[in-house]
Amino acid sequence: MAKKGRVFSGIRPTGRAHLGNYLGAIQNYVALQDDYECVYCIVDLHALTTVEDTENLRQNTHEMALDLLAAGIRPQETILFVQSHVPEVTELHMILSMVTPLGKLTDLPTFKEKVRQQPDNVNYGLVGYPVLMTADIVLYKADVVPVGIDQAPHIEFARETVRSFNYRYNTHVLIEPQMKNTPVLKVLGIDGKEKMSKSLNNHIELAATPEETTKRVREMVTDPARIKRTDPGNPDICNVFTMHKIFSPQSDVDMVNVECRRAGIGCVECKVLLAKNLNKHLEPLRAKRAEYASKPDLVMDILNDGAKRARVIAQKTMEEVRAAVQLP
Ligand code: TRP
Repeated sequence: MAKKGRVFSGIRPTGRAHLGNYLGAIQNYVALQDDYECVYCIVDLHALTTVEDTENLRQNTHEMALDLLAAGIRPQETILFVQSHVPEVTELHMILSMVTPLGKLTDLPTFKEKVRQQPDNVNYGLVGYPVLMTADIVLYKADVVPVGIDQAPHIEFARETVRSFNYRYNTHVLIEPQMKNTPVLKVLGIDGKEKMSKSLNNHIELAATPEETTKRVREMVTDPARIKRTDPGNPDICNVFTMHKIFSPQSDVDMVNVECRRAGIGCVECKVLLAKNLNKHLEPLRAKRAEYASKPDLVMDILNDGAKRARVIAQKTMEEVRAAVQLP
């Protein structure tokens, strides 16, 4: 079947993925494989901009690969690889930095946020983060980049950088990527307040055991106005209900929607039901993950093969780029 074009996306090696990563990115990566030629990259170089202690970087990269494969990335057709395995990206990053006004980088809201988060480690690489991201995208001549809305300024930056490069060197070798906003199935963390994230420890890991998953679901914060079992609740503001809508059959969603409002079902019961449905959904992922985890060499082979295929594209682009820049 003819594909609609090439998709590229990068995901940071944060270790084991959680439900937020899954619903916000990974599930969409999997679905896009049906219509696009996909290139997915675990961005370990980007991780270096914020991670000082790299002791766990390899393991975290491996864990992320396991989760991507478990979720349904098909490595025969899709190129799945690790960013640093294709060093051409660093050369392109350097060349693109020459058409990047520094002020544009320091003005980005994402950069300002990082400065707030890590005031003692405002390194050069951190400023250049969007340039490296642009290099990722254009090196593989991606048409479409699926990302969350928080990354929108970076995609806009990439588009401007492509225009600047093509204009300065009077060429068309780089392609302006389109952003494809991932349809958001936003779940909050188990605190019911913040976005799910590892650093806040409010997450549920994709690879957690059924017991751990159930325990985490039982810790979820529900409608705070519902204090006693006999108090009616409001599912519209309850994160447990949001998850029911994602993971439970419609009959359960309808039941909770009615019974919560009239205190016909308690929060504990409601969570037990969610945990059951969530575990059912995750069961095949866990099985697949366990299979890959038992074959680390296979995972390594997949990533090496991905890098090899990625490099063929990358080297061709770099030849065109060097020619356009007239590097001798
Ligand atoms: N910056 C992205 C994030 O934080 C990760 C990323 C790196 C990326 N390179 C990319 C995403 C290229 C899309 C395309 O999530």
